[in-house]
Amino acid sequence: MLYSDKVMDHFNNPRNVGVIEDADGVGEVGNPVCGDMMKITIAVDDADRITDVRFQTLGCGAAIATSSIVTEMAKGMTIQQAAAITKQQVADELGGLPPAKMHCSVLATDGLKVAVDDYLRRHGREPISGPIKSADPNFDPHADEDEHGDDGECDL
Ligand code: FES
Repeated sequence: MLYSDKVMDHFNNPRNVGVIEDADGVGEVGNPVCGDMMKITIAVDDADRITDVRFQTLGCGAAIATSSIVTEMAKGMTIQQAAAITKQQVADELGGLPPAKMHCSVLATDGLKVAVDDYLRRHGREPISGPIKSADPNFDPHADEDEHGDDGECDL
């Protein structure tokens, strides 16, 4: 399996690892296929701008690398911009992901969406993303992937 140098860099030296104490929003998601898990905490200012992001991921190398890069992407964004980050944008930012590992990036984007919605609910506002696909027990993370498929196993 071929990973870009940037994926390997973020896997070996993940950025923004940890938990923000007294975070403004918390997102916790799991991948129903492999059981990998991710927790993300965000700090948000009065202008809805994300000022800090931290993550903890128990998962494969691609899950760790995508979690790491999504924290870098989200920092400085508004919550609306952060909630709109797609798994394809995450993969592109990393210089690409093998097709079989594309589903791993869902953890990072979904975790961020859940954290943003948590922030909004705490302030009595309507969530942006609503129900998260990966929280559905019938969710198929490979449904929108190409014919290369995936065996669902953590192999990094
Ligand atoms: S997130 Fe579990 S195999 Fe990548």
